Amino acid sequence: MASTESDAIGSPASNPAEPIRSSKDFLIFGAPLIGDEEKREVLDCLETGWLGTGPKVAQLEREFRDYKGAPYAVAVNSCTAALHLSMLAAGIGPGDEVITTALTFCATVNAIIHAGAEPVLADVNPATLNIDPREVAAKITSRTKAIVPVHFAGRACDMDALVTITRRHGLMIIEDCAHAVETTYKGKQAGTFGSFGCFSFYVTKNMATGEGGMILTMDERYADRLKILALHGMSKDAWRRFSDEGYKHYYVVECGYKYNMMDLQAAIGIHQLHRIEMNWERRQEIWAIYQRELSGLPLTLPAEPDQGTRHSYHLYTVLVDSERARLTRDQFISDMTAENIGVGVHYQSIPVHPYYQERFGWRPEDYPHSLRIGQQTVSLPLSAKLTSRDVSDVVRAVRKVLNR
Ligand SMILES: Cc1ncc(COP(=O)(O)O)c(C=O)c1O
Repeated sequence: MASTESDAIGSPASNPAEPIRSSKDFLIFGAPLIGDEEKREVLDCLETGWLGTGPKVAQLEREFRDYKGAPYAVAVNSCTAALHLSMLAAGIGPGDEVITTALTFCATVNAIIHAGAEPVLADVNPATLNIDPREVAAKITSRTKAIVPVHFAGRACDMDALVTITRRHGLMIIEDCAHAVETTYKGKQAGTFGSFGCFSFYVTKNMATGEGGMILTMDERYADRLKILALHGMSKDAWRRFSDEGYKHYYVVECGYKYNMMDLQAAIGIHQLHRIEMNWERRQEIWAIYQRELSGLPLTLPAEPDQGTRHSYHLYTVLVDSERARLTRDQFISDMTAENIGVGVHYQSIPVHPYYQERFGWRPEDYPHSLRIGQQTVSLPLSAKLTSRDVSDVVRAVRKVLNR
């Protein structure tokens, strides 16, 4: 496979004026690999009429919990919901501070705000793009209740250092594992280091259900509370009221949310999970091809996975420094788009967004690594769906754009 891909990459573009791919054949960033099993399972939902939360959600919870080796898993309709509910179950609310990274998707920060707490940002280690434990330590106050590490791109955070800090200060850990289904750190699964691990099954993620999420927790009481909060605050197992066991009364025990996952989503997720390792291997292969074929270009490539960890290969991010590359990151993005290759940005740093500046007074320059990375980063396609030709088109497009 790799040699075929290398051979194809080596062949020159037929006509430099022509885009690498035709517009009809635009390479969509992050398209999931959906198999016949997913289609059959979704059809089964439609035929049985059980579209909402039901047996397939329960199956996905069991299988995901077993895959990660965690005692409890609660399915929800997004990672944002997972983070929000975890905060609430952790007892985090007004007056509390929660520390997270300045380089993440806005949902990480918004979930802290939804819980009524105040987000506090820590800058990243520029080599790993993960939250820097020294920055975390510097941000702890008497109001700090928890930290939310994000295993960025699928690379495990420095969990030894973070766990030490949280133990010293009596803080909770809520892991944002949106990128990290397959990630491990020193043999331990991402999402099992603290009280809660939150996963995303959004369409571009390693395991996709369209929208969807999962919470791992180590404590049965948390799991029970999460289930109640995810479905209007109705007493446990309320979803059974429409089951073949006949109608059952339910009781509202608190004011919850409508965050439950549907069987339609779980139908896709069950088979995505069955293929998780196969897809991981394919992405690892693509990652290695990019590392080899893009080396020597005026780009900063991602650091190799750290010793003793397993990278989930969710994102392949390169940095475009405008002086070195002789084009800006945004020009790189529009040139790649003109070659009909879809790319992404993960992410502009959190403090550049006007809402957070106005509400918290954050200044981007106070988080210099996140700011620079947010200005330079571009994610190349890294889906198991990519064919050898797709991978070679991405490489040829990057070379072409940088050689102009
Ligand atoms: C780091 C991170 N956290 C949280 C989320 C939110 O996930 P979801 O879209 O499932 O709510 C995402 C999604 O892109 C993410 O990348």
